[in-house]
Amino acid sequence: MSNPSLLILPGDGIGPEVMAEVRRIIDWYGDKRGLTFDVSEDLVGGAAYDKHGTPLHDDTMAKAQEVDAVLLGAVGGPKYDVLDFSVKPERGLLRLRKEMDLYANLRPAQCFDALADFSSLKKDVVAGLDIMIVRELTSGIYFGEPRGIIEEGNERVGINTQRYTESEIDRVARSAFELAMRRGKKVCSMEKANVMESGILWREVVTEVGKEYPEVELSHMYADAGAMQLCRWPKQFDVIVTDNLFGDLLSDAAAMLTGSLGMLPSASLGAPMANGRPKALYEPVHGSAPDIAGQGKANPIACVLSFAMALRYSFDQGAEAERLEKAIETVLADGVRTADLLGEEGATPVSTSGMGDAILAALDASL
Ligand code: NAD
Ligand code: IPM
Ligand code: MN
Repeated sequence: MSNPSLLILPGDGIGPEVMAEVRRIIDWYGDKRGLTFDVSEDLVGGAAYDKHGTPLHDDTMAKAQEVDAVLLGAVGGPKYDVLDFSVKPERGLLRLRKEMDLYANLRPAQCFDALADFSSLKKDVVAGLDIMIVRELTSGIYFGEPRGIIEEGNERVGINTQRYTESEIDRVARSAFELAMRRGKKVCSMEKANVMESGILWREVVTEVGKEYPEVELSHMYADAGAMQLCRWPKQFDVIVTDNLFGDLLSDAAAMLTGSLGMLPSASLGAPMANGRPKALYEPVHGSAPDIAGQGKANPIACVLSFAMALRYSFDQGAEAERLEKAIETVLADGVRTADLLGEEGATPVSTSGMGDAILAALDASL
């Protein structure tokens, strides 16, 4: 059988820096576990714009459709702020999500014990936290028509449209319930059914799907109250399912429950391919962090944990995913810290590659 294929798109800013550490870990799996991937690398975002005048070349898009999984670093940066909206780096990422039809974006927020003091919230609020936000990723206000900036009378109007079909809600709800069945058997759906028709439909469809999962306890929250509850007592949640925009906001907020945005991985999954595995793109939740790019300060853990999600969801390597997650837990317990996690006494400050070294050493020790 041929090796599983992986397309790596490091992107911009800290993207290539954190991805370099993931490449070392991929090599480790080849050398030490006989898990060899056919890895190819290409450009996305500003890097692709600089070379091709587009944030995602058609050939790259075609490659992404063919591989078993895509791993992406981050896109964007101030250098590209002046570009026309249609060729901004972020459009490349949005095109990948849309054309691969990656409708279920899994954003886990787990608080490692060693980092319980790093959250801006009290330790007992976050210690032991393990929640999963399922964000709808291919529809809603990000993609709804009409959109644009138009002239109306003597002024301009900016327009975006929130739009959800029943089938779009149904399929992401199913992903959330399926995940809940393998976790704590609770789903909380968040929308604003009090002010938005799309929210009313969202609640109705999620409730219908929920009837097929009688073992799962379903609750509903208005997304604003949900944001408050996420800060007040996040451990009340198991799986949260929500739309594209609310999911974007809630997952960044959830990042702070784990201590740093540099800790949060994600998996974006679509329908199963011919081999039964879902189309998939894995990426950290964070962006290109222009404020620290090029300084060796970035925390590579979110990107490494995204690769762990790829091992689990695309390559049936749950035990190896756990090995990698455990290695990270060990490193953090040993006090190894990138700059975003500094502040305690006795910690060992490391650079991006220093964190990679520590994770590799912990992987070696796991054998
Ligand atoms: P950001 O996530 O890049 O940075 C926010 C803050 O978190 C910064 O202070 C940054 O230094 C810090 N941070 C982020 N990741 C970190 C890491 N791994 N280690 C240590 N610190 C980290 O968000 P932003 O500043 O709002 O956006 C910058 C650019 O990234 C924009 O162009 C934006 O559109 C883009 N962006 C891309 C993605 C993506 O590619 N998936 C996601 C979010 C933002
Ligand atoms: C994310 C980012 C993206 C989004 C941007 C960069 C397009 O913020 O992945 O969370 O808004 O979805
Ligand atoms: Mn975001």
